Amino acid sequence: MAACAESAAPSSASATPPAASPERPAKLGLCVACHGEDGISRIAGTPHLAGQDGQYLERALVDYRSGKRQHVPMTSLANSLQPADIRALAAWYASRPGFHAGDAR
Ligand code: HEC
Repeated sequence: MAACAESAAPSSASATPPAASPERPAKLGLCVACHGEDGISRIAGTPHLAGQDGQYLERALVDYRSGKRQHVPMTSLANSLQPADIRALAAWYASRPGFHAGDAR
């Protein structure tokens, strides 16, 4: 993760994505039990995805799919996704309003 130090710099430009909302992905139903429709997780140990960087989300799913990143539910789920599904899901969750400290779990 060589880019960590650079990406930690504050960047207000990327904080608010443009209003364009992507279409609801066909495979979203596979994810909502754990990550929520809106990317706000209600389960301890499950990360919020809302407002996360879209390229990062896409990379995470590609890495689960390839086995580079391994975690029991995510590895098998990502294996059931096509590259187009991964792009659609990453774009969807990236476009959701982000999690704010104090929001209910
Ligand atoms: C059974 C619960 C469960 C389901 C269903 C599930 N996830 Fe996850 N997801 C997790 C957990 C737990 C993690 C954290 C895994 C880890 O530590 O690598 C995770 C991690 C992720 C990450 C990486 C987040 C990060 O910050 O690095 C992405 C992206 C993701 N999930 C997307 C999805 C998508 C898209 C779906 C639907 C296809 C989905 N997940 C379905 C439980 C789930």
